[in-house]
Amino acid sequence: MESQPILATGRLLLRPFTLADAPEVQRLAGDYAVSATTLLPYPYPDGLAEVWIASLREGAERGDAAAFAVTLARGGDLIGGVRLQIDAEHSRGELGFWIAQACWGRGYATEAVGAVIGYGFSALGLHRVHAIHFSRNPASGRVMEKCGMVHEGRLRQHVRKWGVYEDVDLWGIVSPIRAEIPHPLRSMPV
Ligand SMILES: CC(C)(COP(=O)(O)OP(=O)(O)OC[C@H]1O[C@@H](n2cnc3c(N)ncnc32)[C@H](O)[C@@H]1OP(=O)(O)O)[C@@H](O)C(=O)NCCC(=O)NCCS
Repeated sequence: MESQPILATGRLLLRPFTLADAPEVQRLAGDYAVSATTLLPYPYPDGLAEVWIASLREGAERGDAAAFAVTLARGGDLIGGVRLQIDAEHSRGELGFWIAQACWGRGYATEAVGAVIGYGFSALGLHRVHAIHFSRNPASGRVMEKCGMVHEGRLRQHVRKWGVYEDVDLWGIVSPIRAEIPHPLRSMPV
């Protein structure tokens, strides 16, 4: 896979994580409020951010993941992360994302997630992008809706968080670029 680019949006620069981001990742993603609606651990252990960032490079090289540090174009502060887990066999990617609590409600997640979906379709050639969120976290669903994703259903008690089985909502979007490619079975004689 070619090296991951920097994506520029109106207010953000989405760039690869570096090891220098590890202390901020631990502080921001280790916030109780971020952990509460994700599978991120709380408390966030020392050393985990370094291991996670190192693993991203391997994932990018294998072509099975693309992760972006969400930073403010003005000033460069790290405010979040968006990750695409890629299943090349099916040309699809699963999104995960978080924004630092101090920056919620300003449209940053929508801006970042929209850019990564576009990157997945145009640069990675994905056919479909999907994501789940805890059903008790409607803000995340709203981000997906604003990014053009469609609500596809609810998976009951699909994940276990802090010992409790939780419902999740599933959202997806199919590439507007590749949707027109004909399916080989459709042109087979019957
Ligand atoms: C979910 C999260 C990413 C949203 O980030 P954000 O930058 O605040 O998102 P945006 O500002 O782009 O959009 C949030 C939308 O949700 C809406 N929203 C917020 N709380 C809501 C609620 N309780 N019910 C319904 N909608 C809600 C906002 O009004 C906004 O929609 P609008 O623009 O139509 O008004 C952020 O809260 C977060 O990181 N949470 C912790 C980690 C997490 O849950 N990640 C998602 C895992 S899939």
